[in-house]
Amino acid sequence: MSVLAPIIAAGAAQYNAPMDKRLNIIYARRSIRRFTAEPLGDELIEELLRAAMAAPSANNRQPWRFLVVTDEALRRQLAEAHPHAAFAAEAAAVFIIYGEKAGELFEQDLAAATENLLIAAAGLGLGACWCGVTDARRPGIHQATGIPRSLEIVSMICVGHPAEHKEPRSQYDPARVSWQRHQG
Ligand SMILES: Cc1cc2nc3c(=O)[nH]c(=O)nc-3n(C[C@H](O)[C@H](O)[C@H](O)COP(=O)(O)O)c2cc1C
Repeated sequence: MSVLAPIIAAGAAQYNAPMDKRLNIIYARRSIRRFTAEPLGDELIEELLRAAMAAPSANNRQPWRFLVVTDEALRRQLAEAHPHAAFAAEAAAVFIIYGEKAGELFEQDLAAATENLLIAAAGLGLGACWCGVTDARRPGIHQATGIPRSLEIVSMICVGHPAEHKEPRSQYDPARVSWQRHQG
């Protein structure tokens, strides 16, 4: 037996882990980085924003703002500003999620909105990928978008009609779970 067999078997077990069909949309959400040239209509864009704003936030403060970038030249600038988002140039729309940072939970609030938008994209048959925004990447994105430095950019999401397919999967790993008290 190959030394890799147990690793492959473990991977296969994880891949085949049971997925409750009621949660299909969660498992079907995958990072899609290839898109067709088809644009997103305004209705789809608004639906994505609606879903993003349905996210939970601390004290329901909803500290998020959204910038929707469909212009090709601007998307190219964003692709250049972010070293791991070259596909922003091909996406139909890039959503920038940002806001006025207030309190310790601001990033968590915006992360919730980001995940909601991703799941909504999957539900609408679109492809999307979360592109994390770090301190090093922020200046170029402020520059390209005109978002003032007084507001903090948390994430960038590239969305479009998918030109690649990825299988749903759960990644369930019981080794990452403790019960009652932390273990090992
Ligand atoms: C905070 C965060 C930042 C990420 N940044 C990037 C990124 O800059 N570029 C990219 O291609 N994918 C990025 N991703 C997507 C991850 O690579 C992806 O979620 C992970 O590989 C798991 O694959 P899946 O989304 O298909 O389940 C990011 C995801 C998260 C949650």
